[in-house]
Amino acid sequence: MAERLTKAGARNVFYGGSLFFFAIFVALTAHSHWFMRNRSTDETTLTPSVARGKHIWERHSCINCHTLLGEGAYFAPELGNVWKRYGGDQDAAGARETLRAWMAAQPSGVEGRRQMPQFNLADDEVNDLAAFLEWTSKIKTQNWPPNDAG
Ligand code: HEC
Repeated sequence: MAERLTKAGARNVFYGGSLFFFAIFVALTAHSHWFMRNRSTDETTLTPSVARGKHIWERHSCINCHTLLGEGAYFAPELGNVWKRYGGDQDAAGARETLRAWMAAQPSGVEGRRQMPQFNLADDEVNDLAAFLEWTSKIKTQNWPPNDAG
């Protein structure tokens, strides 16, 4: 074995290492893509209403205050699980009404509480939002985020 690392040896370590880890990176990317398409997301329940709900979510920048599955701002509650917390798994109509009432009652004006703006959503828009939150609550996230608060 050489006493010390030669230039050629260093180059081989560099290129070999880069290639090796690049291959791992490509494999993990491919696996993530496969996992999203086949395991974590249920495309069969991805209705036009869910897609419209996502656009409402984006148009009003709910993520600027809320987190969704742990991602977003930490000013307001996690909403990836709000459908389940509202009991939507047992009573979908009830959860939809709770969401409608909540959206209509903002801002609460309660002293000392953080405030959420009034978005003046139409009934259809609240239904779409509910569909989006319901669909999101069913994404298999491998138990992420680890608690209800996101
Ligand atoms: C400016 C910040 C802000 C934005 C933007 C915002 N929210 Fe909120 N939201 C809040 C705050 C603050 C609370 C908690 C208020 C409280 O507890 O009194 C909240 C609470 C909620 C709750 C109740 C959560 C629970 O755990 O009971 C829902 C549902 C909700 N927001 C939906 C939305 C949706 C949908 C949007 C986008 C259309 C949105 N919010 C945009 C600040 C915001």
